[in-house]
Amino acid sequence: MTKSRSRTTATLLFDPKKKKNHFWFYVISFAIFNIPSTSSTSPTLINFGDSNSDTGGVLAGTGLPIGLPHGITFFHRGTGRLGDGRLIIDFFCEELKLSYLSPYLEALAPNFTSGVNFAVSGATTVPQFVPFALDVQVRQFIHFKNRSLELQSFGKIEKMVDEEGFRKGIYMIDIGQNDILVALYQSNLTYKSVAQKIPSFLAEIKLAIQDVRDDGGARNVLT
Ligand SMILES: *[C@@H]1O[C@H](CO)[C@@H](O)[C@H](O)[C@H]1NC(C)=O
Ligand SMILES: *[C@@H]1O[C@H](CO)[C@@H](O)[C@H](O)[C@H]1NC(C)=O
Ligand SMILES: *[C@@H]1O[C@H](CO)[C@@H](O)[C@H](O)[C@H]1NC(C)=O
Repeated sequence: MTKSRSRTTATLLFDPKKKKNHFWFYVISFAIFNIPSTSSTSPTLINFGDSNSDTGGVLAGTGLPIGLPHGITFFHRGTGRLGDGRLIIDFFCEELKLSYLSPYLEALAPNFTSGVNFAVSGATTVPQFVPFALDVQVRQFIHFKNRSLELQSFGKIEKMVDEEGFRKGIYMIDIGQNDILVALYQSNLTYKSVAQKIPSFLAEIKLAIQDVRDDGGARNVLT
């Protein structure tokens, strides 16, 4: 993968031309560092977040049925995505020549060759320790990595992310909208009290980036 191509994906995620993205561009996107430079093979993609990038996590994790019309335009069935077609992360996968990401919580025939998706619809950054808040997703990742490497040391290597995959992977975090929503409800739509809470959301995201970098060995984190 080339440097310019990585930049393209970063731009895709937060296209400033799209009005809808403006807010998130400024509020949430504060860390894009160490974009991978050169690699002959596709990188793995490791994703954390909410419904924006949930490829079936909420369905696998809670059993909440998400059938048609969700998925109607592309998959022609409900896939657990809260949308009719593909999500931005699906287009990322296509662009990077990866198969669509399996949710971490998918018990039935997951395929983690391309990476793994910890995103669950409705997820928030605060409070911690509740399913499936960002800190829980990061803990799941640390377990996932540990267990994947352990299994591979026993010789099981099918459909799994390997050491290099974790090291050179692209880590993405797309979260925060539900925190704002909850804060809006709690404050009867008052701007000031919502704005006051935003730093605590950002602090959680910052912590997640640190943990993923320190414990996970990640070098490339996009938020
Ligand atoms: C798993 O995904 C990889 C590519 O990411 C693909 O080559 C492989 O065929 C998939 N395996 C199964 C069993 O679907
Ligand atoms: C996985 O976790 C166990 C116990 O928590 C630890 O002993 C082991 O070193 C870890 N393995 C890796 C590859 O991080
Ligand atoms: C929000 O509005 C409701 C109904 O008007 C009121 O009962 C409640 O106390 C308000 N909450 C806050 C946090 O202002």
